[in-house]
Amino acid sequence: MSHHIVEVKDLKYSYPDGTPALDGISFLITHGESVAVVGSNGAGKSTLLHHLNGYLTPTSGMVRIGDLPLSKSTVQAVRRSVGMVFQDPDDQLFMPTVADDVAFGPLNLGLPLEEVNDRVDRALTTVGALHLKNRPPYKLSGGEKRSVAIASTLSMSPDILVMDEPSANLDPQARRRLIELLSTFTHTKIIATHDLDMALDLCDRTIILHGGLITADGPTLDIFRDSALLRRSHLEKPLSMQGCPACGSMAVK
Ligand SMILES: Nc1ncnc2c1ncn2[C@@H]1O[C@H](COP(=O)(O)OP(=O)(O)O)[C@@H](O)[C@H]1O
Ligand SMILES: [Mg+2]
Repeated sequence: MSHHIVEVKDLKYSYPDGTPALDGISFLITHGESVAVVGSNGAGKSTLLHHLNGYLTPTSGMVRIGDLPLSKSTVQAVRRSVGMVFQDPDDQLFMPTVADDVAFGPLNLGLPLEEVNDRVDRALTTVGALHLKNRPPYKLSGGEKRSVAIASTLSMSPDILVMDEPSANLDPQARRRLIELLSTFTHTKIIATHDLDMALDLCDRTIILHGGLITADGPTLDIFRDSALLRRSHLEKPLSMQGCPACGSMAVK
């Protein structure tokens, strides 16, 4: 199942206005891994993720998805493998109804209508949003939009799920539901997040980005135990690993 593999090699990227964002990134993610990409604002997380489905093209270096080095000629095939959930659901939802949005990808694949309808219902059911099917996306709450954006990605049956800050702006219950949902996916998952507690719950491996470079890549628990590393990277230990300020007890992780 090599198509689930993600390789990034010496990836450098500067935006057209000259802002440098990635300064030579390399890693290999294998089938079924769940990897958190963490780092402070401006570290390069979104820029990195946008390279994984060809939304951005490297200034230099290489991205490979399975056997396919990403290029103009492979980008369509890569996008069938890599499902991207953008940081802002408004960048992803643009159709008159939720059902239209979730059907958009499968229709573009040229699937028969019956199969498309089936995928729409399954994806919306998975994220608990079937009741929103006929609503206009722009009238939904932030959490509802996020669920629908995830459904619109799931309806493509991707091998690899790439998500940019999926728990941002969710209320605690919606966040918990999202974590439970994501924990059931056997996909290869790459999740950029500020939510280190979610990273701890979902990802065995964590990559820290700082100033467009990888400053750490390893088991999540080891990385989050390294207070000096977290400080250097402008990050804070997950709450679940901090002692309780009220009762004075120490966290167990
Ligand atoms: N469209 C853009 N044009 C120019 N610079 C950008 C653009 N988007 C992001 N940047 C810059 O690229 C760097 C990395 O940004 P980004 O990948 O969005 O970081 P993160 O997602 O970790 O917050 C930052 O310095 C940011 O200001
Ligand atoms: Mg970002």
